[in-house]
Amino acid sequence: MEIFAHRGASGSRPENTLAAFREAAGLPIDGVELDVHLSGDGVPVVIHDETVDRTTDGSGYVKAMTVDELKQLSAGCRFSDEYYDERIPTLREVLELFRGKPHRLNIELKSDVFPYPGMRQKVIALVREFGIADQVILSSFDHVTLEAVKREAPEIETGMLFVEILADARATAARISADALHPALPYAVREPGRQAAAEGAVLRVYTVNEPEYAVMAREAGAQAIFTDYPDRMLKLFK
Ligand code: G3P
Ligand code: MG
Repeated sequence: MEIFAHRGASGSRPENTLAAFREAAGLPIDGVELDVHLSGDGVPVVIHDETVDRTTDGSGYVKAMTVDELKQLSAGCRFSDEYYDERIPTLREVLELFRGKPHRLNIELKSDVFPYPGMRQKVIALVREFGIADQVILSSFDHVTLEAVKREAPEIETGMLFVEILADARATAARISADALHPALPYAVREPGRQAAAEGAVLRVYTVNEPEYAVMAREAGAQAIFTDYPDRMLKLFK
């Protein structure tokens, strides 16, 4: 079972911060997942929500702030004062941190609510600039964007995110040329997911924090899990 640190090692560090990615980079795991939005001045930045409210000491939409403004916020203080100095990373900073490391990088394009014109092109350009197309997986709940990614950058693997126990997930994935299914746990452990895995589909399952669920996902044939607790899963699987 492959282990991906979800939002970095976000169980023990503030999510989507360099501290969380550094921790993940030091573990013998397979990969790391991170979320990308676009700042007001057009820079891909690593944060989960459309707003900064939940994870920083600021408030407002990511798209309404420049990178300089976003960098003034603490992305760690809501987790613990110890991480007050953590900032919202740019995607470029995270790619630099993983330069030369063996980890796969699952970049999730968060264009679900706001379309962020130009974001996918900028992410593709960064992946090409770093020469890491074979290391990266681009995923999204926004299947329209994901289809465009595959059209524009066929060399980059794509993962189709979804929540429900879709009856026709594989047909949808084939239609948008997605390389892998990235379902929530229920699909993976129920019949459609089991059958997909048995027929050779790659399933990476989010977000699996309980060892019992991780064992269920493995038994159902999933290839990888996204977890906030990679250390916990390492003890289980490696
Ligand atoms: O990519 C897996 C997972 O991160 C999708 O959900 O909301 O945690 O980004 P979310
Ligand atoms: Mg995500």
